[in-house]
Amino acid sequence: MIRVLASRWQGSVLVCGKCSKKLDGGFGEKGRTPLVKLLRQALGVKKGRKSDRGVVEVKCLGVCPKNAVVMVDGARPERWMLVPAGADTEEVVATLSEPASVP
Ligand code: FES
Repeated sequence: MIRVLASRWQGSVLVCGKCSKKLDGGFGEKGRTPLVKLLRQALGVKKGRKSDRGVVEVKCLGVCPKNAVVMVDGARPERWMLVPAGADTEEVVATLSEPASVP
């Protein structure tokens, strides 16, 4: 029996945690903020199913770029993005699709 839980997620973003770890963060003013944290701040979302969008740190996605973090927009899984360390937050957010509107 599979139980179903309601979630407020209207979209999701996967961020490689191992890439972030290799960069020792890599983002923010001091270059020590992980991309997942930066995105959550920029999008104003928290962890868990009650936020509007899921921003989830995942294990290695098998791409392993140098000086970049692999990010996958759940709405456009056919194109993976390699976000260079120190990239501008607004620029990164602009690459993500808008969350689906609530019917
Ligand atoms: S370490 Fe990030 S994709 Fe492998």
